[in-house]
Amino acid sequence: MTETPQQSFKATIVIIDDDIHILELASVILSRRGYQVFTALKARQGIEIIDARQPELVLLDYMMPEVDGLSALREIRTRFPRTYVVMFTGKGNEEIAVELMKAGASEYLLKPFNNRDLVDRLDKVLRIREIELQNLALQEEQIRLLEQIDAWNQELQQRVREKSDALQKAHTEISQSEKLAALGYLSAGMAHEIRNPLNSIALFVQLMRQNTADSEQLEYQGKILKEIDRIDVIIRKLLDASRRTRTISDDVHMDEVIDNALEVFSPQIETGRILIQRSYCDVPVRIKADPAELEQIFTNLLLNALDEMPAGGLINIGVYRENERVVVRMSDSGGGIPENVLPSIFDPFFSTKTRGTGMGLPVVQRIARIYDGNVVVEKTSCQGTVFRLDFPVCH
Ligand SMILES: Nc1ncnc2c1ncn2[C@@H]1O[C@H](COP(=O)(O)OP(=O)(O)OP(=O)(O)O)[C@@H](O)[C@H]1O
Ligand SMILES: [Mg+2]
Repeated sequence: MTETPQQSFKATIVIIDDDIHILELASVILSRRGYQVFTALKARQGIEIIDARQPELVLLDYMMPEVDGLSALREIRTRFPRTYVVMFTGKGNEEIAVELMKAGASEYLLKPFNNRDLVDRLDKVLRIREIELQNLALQEEQIRLLEQIDAWNQELQQRVREKSDALQKAHTEISQSEKLAALGYLSAGMAHEIRNPLNSIALFVQLMRQNTADSEQLEYQGKILKEIDRIDVIIRKLLDASRRTRTISDDVHMDEVIDNALEVFSPQIETGRILIQRSYCDVPVRIKADPAELEQIFTNLLLNALDEMPAGGLINIGVYRENERVVVRMSDSGGGIPENVLPSIFDPFFSTKTRGTGMGLPVVQRIARIYDGNVVVEKTSCQGTVFRLDFPVCH
């Protein structure tokens, strides 16, 4: 192996040939032309030099002992794709030359070669190599840019999706609060107007009951009274939804509020074979709210849970603190909320029950929002439903 002493070279070329004369001749010619030249008598040794020097070009003899030129060519092209190979072949071996070109050689030279021809061919291969590599780099850049555009596109689409979702949510919330506002306005004014004639009707029906022994009449009157009761319940709920006066305290204890709500339901809990489990951690924790209004939240949630468990079941209530929020988890072992129903449960007047008014959960949500709280269905399946609420802790 010989190394030319020059410092700045046109390119690096490795010559591999088992004929020492050819090696020396080619080396001298190419060194004079300004190339850095390395030589090897054997293919294996030549490949080691290629590995170390990463030359632009290799001049490789086809006929060699041990590793033949074709195998060496294939190895070089596979391992060092940026290194181009020019083959030496004996005269009359054009068929082989074609095979070599197919295997990745850039050019072939018939031996014996003439000096001028050698230099011209190598210069040409090096020029082609440069253009091809630039082309490759451009293609890679194009792929990279296309990928980047694709990523931007995806990001843009994602952002559009998020904004559309947010818009949709805002629309839903606006329509919910519009309905609630209208409801408050109407119910406050109308409740008393309706209740007075309703009381009169109830009174007259009761009078009629006293004056008849006809069982059929009595049955009808009983039904009328029941329906009157139902109307009364609805009106009470409407009034609750539009409560005007609040008594806010900054020392409301979440656990006590829940206990109070549970207390109201103790008869149903006992007769309905409902098991209540409470796990209150980090209590007492204070919240700023109207305790009666807050209790309404749990009353409504408990009513729904009890509706779902007519043959008994389990209600689990957990209270704990998460940073600056107090979290309440309330689960029931009822039938769960069907997937198609879930998006509508907080809509005013939405109900799947024959006698439901659909006011329970909208009121829960409205009250939660008043106190900067959130309410969501955390989980629901045929095993039951978990509601999660959180409110800011008051210092
Ligand atoms: N714990 C629950 N398990 C299963 N479904 C529930 C539960 N809570 C609410 N739902 C569903 O959400 C709907 C809306 O509940 P919401 O409390 O607002 O109204 P409602 O219970 O139907 O009527 P109201 O509470 O006014 O008597 C219910 O009809 C029911 O389908
Ligand atoms: Mg309800």
